[in-house]
Amino acid sequence: MHFTKNITNDLIWVGANDRRLAMFEGVYSVPGGVSYNSYLLLDDKTVLFDTVDKAVSHRFFENVTFALDGRQLDYLIIQHMEPDHSAVLDDLLLRYPNVKVVCNAKTQIMIKQFFDLDIDVKIVKENDTLNTGKHLLHFVMAPMVHWPEVMVTYDSTDKILFSADGFGTFGALNGAIFADEVDFNADYMNEARRYYTNIVGKYGTQVQALLNKASTLSIEMICPLHGFVWRKNLSDIISKYMLWSTYQPEENGVMIAYASVYGNTENAAEILSGMLHNKGINTIMYDVSVTPASEIISAAFKWSHLVFASTTYNAGIFVSMEELINDLVAHNIQNRTVAIIENGSWAATSGGLIRGKLEKCKNINVLEQTVSIKSGLKPTQMTELAAIADTIAADFTQPEENLRTGTTQTNLAAMYKLSYGLFVLTAKDEDKDNGCIINTTIQITANPPRISIAVIKANYTHDMIMKTGEFNVSTLSTSVPFNVFEHFGFQSGRDIDKFENCTSDNRTANGIKYIPKYSNSVISGKVVDTYDYDTHTLFVADVTEAFVLSNEPSVTYQYYFDNIKPKPQPNAEKKKGFICKICGYVYEGDTLPDDFICPICKHGAIDFEPIK
Ligand code: FEO
Repeated sequence: MHFTKNITNDLIWVGANDRRLAMFEGVYSVPGGVSYNSYLLLDDKTVLFDTVDKAVSHRFFENVTFALDGRQLDYLIIQHMEPDHSAVLDDLLLRYPNVKVVCNAKTQIMIKQFFDLDIDVKIVKENDTLNTGKHLLHFVMAPMVHWPEVMVTYDSTDKILFSADGFGTFGALNGAIFADEVDFNADYMNEARRYYTNIVGKYGTQVQALLNKASTLSIEMICPLHGFVWRKNLSDIISKYMLWSTYQPEENGVMIAYASVYGNTENAAEILSGMLHNKGINTIMYDVSVTPASEIISAAFKWSHLVFASTTYNAGIFVSMEELINDLVAHNIQNRTVAIIENGSWAATSGGLIRGKLEKCKNINVLEQTVSIKSGLKPTQMTELAAIADTIAADFTQPEENLRTGTTQTNLAAMYKLSYGLFVLTAKDEDKDNGCIINTTIQITANPPRISIAVIKANYTHDMIMKTGEFNVSTLSTSVPFNVFEHFGFQSGRDIDKFENCTSDNRTANGIKYIPKYSNSVISGKVVDTYDYDTHTLFVADVTEAFVLSNEPSVTYQYYFDNIKPKPQPNAEKKKGFICKICGYVYEGDTLPDDFICPICKHGAIDFEPIK
């Protein structure tokens, strides 16, 4: 009997759950099962997004038949060719011989590899679209999230991102379909982390590339191929992906993984854990012979500090510990402080070997002191463990009461005290002009005249400057109205031509437009250096031209808030949540995630304030 779930008025989940599978991909235990999601869009044309694993093919075809309700299937979009989403492709083609397969060129090759089928497919590439009637589908390539052929699909009509493996989780769906129908943070976030870190943890750079592309889209729902659909609190999972993909820890604390044949290595690990806990530091311990590696990998991505304690075995690292260390290195673990305890009754080698493997990883600080046990810990070695505990504790600069919650003393309100100007940053790429609002123009040197600007990577102007190496900065003055900020700051040049209705054509010698009205000066820059800072690029530029337009004072950030930006709308004030001070976007909820990014103007949580 079919079992489907309605996602929207014309989108139906037609996937299936597998609770019998012991090991996903033959490697990862899935005690809670796994879901294989497939979605059917019922527009003028019918569109199926991916299929399922062969283990659940019967239920899947029942679901598709029911959801189509007698209609023919027009399109199958293949976003990912891994067989957990494509194994029934040949069966589907037999049942629906008129379906048109939509995929990219890499997928076409894999279809031939897996099925030896020569089928007529519609090949799509980056930014291609498919109009299905009411819906317009945009294809976005996402190589190595998790395989090279992966792409995601954005439905700009309903603002839905079909995210392939991205934002998925282990665990079958037990009647619910939306993440907000369960207590996701309490009951599923650990499995989401275990899924991410083990499946795509190695490919943080590629996940970052996809997140950057996604940040330019207005997304109201995420439909992954595993786990729950996200329609509320999307930042809960996006903020985690920002941390995981940049290998930043989620929590201050110490994960201790130990391999102990007769309990003596475990004893040392436990004593160290106790010492750390006495200092107010969170600790969690795993016996690597008992706990599946995928759980320890996941924990290593979560915690800030790692301890590995291993006996020596066959003159090397104990077998399960060696597998774990190799696995962690393969998953690209970065940005952690590590301490090592080794044990050996006659020739301890495990510590040095673990050190050698981990020191090849990026930004892994392996503490110099290794505690080396001969069979069992001696009383004189308690000071060695205490020294490790002290060294780790020194990394935690917050008051002890904050350590267990992972909070910090950083009060970003201090940022408000910085004095900023506001500027229109303009650039030109061939025939296309564009501009955006920035507040980050700073003079670096006078001789030669040199400035820096920091620009959000999601901005189209950013990409233009990366390509051409040239820009103009028009310094806004106090007569500037709010609609200038709306025009240049709250919409993307990828969607509109911001200069379309401009009657004048004022350009500097570099050919780039500047803003003659509401600006008091213009500076042209030629980029000499770029620095990557995650969400922003810092451009350092030589000044190639500069002139003054008026003596009207420059707008400061404070002046903008006090005199230009409209006060919050009454309907926003009635809502509970936080309002973006820059553009007025309202985030509804009790707490605003620290790394929340405004979907309208791309400013961060620091620029939000509680709605009073
Ligand atoms: Fe769920 Fe990469 O397959």
